[in-house]
Parts: sequence; structure tokens; C-alpha cells
Amino acid sequence: MITKNTRIFLAGHNGMVGSAILRKLKSKNYKKIFYISRKKLDLRDQNAVRKYINKIKPQAVILAAAKVGGIHANNKYKAEFIYDNLSIQNNVINSSYLAGVKNLIFLGSSCVYPKYCKQPIKEEYLLSNYLEKTNEPYAIAKIAGINLCQSYNEQYGLNYKSLMPCNAYGINDNYDETNSHFFPALIRKVIDSIQKNKNYISIWGNGRPLRELIYCDDIADACIFFLKKKTNKSIINIGSGIEKTIIEYAYFIMRHLKVNFKIKFEKKKLNGTPRKILDSNLAKNYGWVSKTTLEQGLSIAINDYLKKHIIERDKFNFK
Ligand SMILES: NC(=O)c1ccc[n+]([C@@H]2O[C@H](COP(=O)([O-])OP(=O)(O)OC[C@H]3O[C@@H](n4cnc5c(N)ncnc54)[C@H](OP(=O)(O)O)[C@@H]3O)[C@@H](O)[C@H]2O)c1
Repeated sequence: MITKNTRIFLAGHNGMVGSAILRKLKSKNYKKIFYISRKKLDLRDQNAVRKYINKIKPQAVILAAAKVGGIHANNKYKAEFIYDNLSIQNNVINSSYLAGVKNLIFLGSSCVYPKYCKQPIKEEYLLSNYLEKTNEPYAIAKIAGINLCQSYNEQYGLNYKSLMPCNAYGINDNYDETNSHFFPALIRKVIDSIQKNKNYISIWGNGRPLRELIYCDDIADACIFFLKKKTNKSIINIGSGIEKTIIEYAYFIMRHLKVNFKIKFEKKKLNGTPRKILDSNLAKNYGWVSKTTLEQGLSIAINDYLKKHIIERDKFNFK
């Protein structure tokens, strides 16, 4: 049973999702949370990970550390995406098992499902067809992690769950010009155009792929909910039901910032999977639903972006 005194190791506490989990654990008054920076512990180092986990003796683990990025990063750094992710998850999951950890949350992603998957995507569609080529190494690593958890559950009687969130955004997101995900990239582009007095933004591909978006704190909420919850299934989709095309998201952000720019399309850039909306009924049946509206999450994300990346925030009209 997970209580406020359970010793919880959170891997990846500096990342967008990891930092949201840390905020949530603290706000819910969990008292024994362990985390360590990448400088002090590279999770690709098997011996070091084993030593650290043996030292802190966690009773539960949340694995939010991973090599993560948008379509360009996934396509360009394929070797790192597969090697880093396989290493991190093998080390953390196996060391947790060896240290006697019974409860663990592994973060997968909606990218693990096939490129042309039946929609909305149910958990059972995993491995039912080919993957999207641009993120195949990342997806294969994640699928290996999911299978590792399932296999350990079956062979060793553990309770290791894989949560599959859709595209996420929020506080501490990555706004890198080329390596970020589409939504933070759109926020940055609209704000850049405002700052530089441009009357347009350019978006990658044809803007027509449909994407589901969830606010990072909702994923954090799901991690804690499912860490505590007894479930028969170990793969659980974590979606919000908020689905739009990339063009519609661009207009949503522009409306929010009270501008109306033209959209130019960089048609040579990749589109990725045409649609990936999760069927999150399993999570719902267990009692979990996402709570944050796109309007609420976007407001927080924009303020966070401005606070960290832009000094001239007075130029903008924020509530
Ligand atoms: N972002 C999304 O849209 C999304 C959607 C679905 C699922 N997910 C999943 O959610 C999890 C977290 O994603 P995120 O968006 O929060 O990513 P993120 O912001 O990039 O955070 C990843 C974290 O992992 C740490 N990390 C990476 N390599 C490491 C290493 N070798 N040793 C130690 N720490 C390492 C990073 O440390 P540093 O801070 O030191 O770099 C960072 O804290 C991932 O498993 C991802 O697949 C994310």
C-alpha cells in the first residue's frame, strides 16, 4: 500500500512531467521523496543506478526520465533515442526489482501505437501494425519498457504499470527551436512573431495532423493515482479528449494572445502520424480523468515561457 510515508524514488524530476510529479507529491504531502540530478547520477550507468537505488531503498518508483523530443529530434538523433531510453528504463526497472520495489510507474507515450492505428486508440492495439518511421527507435525503446514491466509482473508478481500519455505541454516544457514538440514550438512561434512585429507564423508540414494534448500536471495526477490504485491491466492510456489539428492549435494560441497572423506552411518538413487520439476509457473506469482545460493550461504554459525565456513580458496582455 502507498502511504504518505512510502519511500518514493522519482527519476527525471527536472523534466516537464517529472517536475509536475514532484510538485504534486509535495502538495499532497508525501514525505519521503528521493530524487537526484543527472549530473550526480546518469541513469544510463547500470552500476551507479543499482548502487543509488540500493542506498535509498525505495518502496515505490516513478520513472519520468527519458530522452524526449519532437519529430525533428526523434528523426535526427535516432541512436540516442533508442540507446538512452533502453538503458535508462532497463537500469531503473531492473534495479527496482532487485531492490524489492513492488510498485512502479513507467511513462510510455501515445507514439508507441502504430502509425495507421484504428481511432480512438485502445491499449490492445499496441503492436498491431507498423510504427511511424520518424520515432520508431523511441517507440521501440518504450515498447521494450512496457514489455519489461509486463514480463516482470508476470514472472515476479510485481505491480509495474505503464501509463501512455498523449502529447503533453506545460511548466518546464522544452521550447527549443528545432527539437521541441509541436505545441511549445507553436507558442514560441506566435510570441516570436509578436515580438518581431511579423504578421505570420510558419508551421512544419501541412498542419493537418490531429493531435491530442494533455497538461503536464494531469499526467502527474495520473501517475500518483495509478501508483496507489490496484488494477488488473498494466498498460493504461492517459488522454484528455482535447483533439485539434495543428492549424487549429495555432489559431487557438493566436486567439488567446489576441493576434491573428497568417500561417505559412513549410511543406518539406515532416508531418508525422496523421492522427493519434487515445481511448482513455480504461483510466476513466478506474476513476481517473484529466481536469485541466486547454485554456487554463495554455495560460500557465505561456506565463511560464515568458517568465523563463522572455524579459519584455509587459508587451503582452496577460491575465
Ligand atoms: N512531453 C510529452 O509530450 C510526453 C508525452 C507522452 C509521454 N511523455 C513521457 O513522459 C516522460 C517525461 O517526459 P518529459 O516531457 O518530462 O521530458 P523532459 O522534460 O525532457 O524530461 C526528461 C527528464 O529525464 C532526464 N534524463 C534524461 N536522460 C537522463 C539520463 N541519462 N540520466 C538522468 N536523467 C536523464 C532529464 O534530465 P535533465 O533535466 O538533466 O536533462 C529530464 O529531467 C518521458 O518518459 C516521456 O516519454 C512525454
